[in-house]
Amino acid sequence: MKKTKIYHVREAGFVDAPAIFAIIKRHPDELVPRPLSDIIQNIDRFLVAEVNRTVVGCAAWGILPEIGQAKHPTIEIKSVAVDRTHRGTGLGCALVEAAIRRVKKLKPEMVIVLTFTPEFFRRFGFSEVPKESIMHKLYTGCLNCSKYDSPFTCPEVAMGLTWTDGRGPTRRR
Ligand SMILES: CC(C)(COP(=O)(O)OP(=O)(O)OC[C@H]1O[C@@H](n2cnc3c(N)ncnc32)[C@H](O)[C@@H]1OP(=O)(O)O)[C@@H](O)C(=O)NCCC(=O)NCCS
Repeated sequence: MKKTKIYHVREAGFVDAPAIFAIIKRHPDELVPRPLSDIIQNIDRFLVAEVNRTVVGCAAWGILPEIGQAKHPTIEIKSVAVDRTHRGTGLGCALVEAAIRRVKKLKPEMVIVLTFTPEFFRRFGFSEVPKESIMHKLYTGCLNCSKYDSPFTCPEVAMGLTWTDGRGPTRRR
């Protein structure tokens, strides 16, 4: 009898850190590498996707810095990946939807992603924003990137999601 696969997205715990580290490491072209120590320190900002209790995907978020007051609180969704053999089964969407649901509770002004797969993120309501509008991201993250000489020549697309028009994180088909 064929065994049914059980798919599950849940909050990560410390025990998941090595698996998350390995998944991010397997996607050097699409994801910013993250040391294990960074993953452990931010484990409460990670979600994992499991298939039959094996972690096969992850998603995370980070709060971008503000000086003084949170005038434009912005959250970045990052480290989104699903292992190749489990793609196309809805896990990527489930991870991003769960991350959006979680960060929405913090009432950010905007949720951003920097991505090579803008079409994937468009289905959640993200749309392209000028990189100049997310300078705090460029200063904290992109400044240390050694792949491109400038964030403005980097092919990653900056996208933002806001709820000022009352739209929720509903997936578009
Ligand atoms: C992007 C990624 C997370 C999607 O994971 P996944 O589990 O295959 O996604 P799903 O199965 O939930 O896909 C749902 C839909 O998104 C579409 N989709 C998946 N990857 C896509 C991509 N790269 N570009 C555009 N659409 C994509 C699928 O075709 C599917 O469409 P459908 O519902 O109309 O059939 C996965 O391809 C991945 O890990 N890529 C490498 C890492 C990466 O690029 N991460 C994003 C950078 S921030």
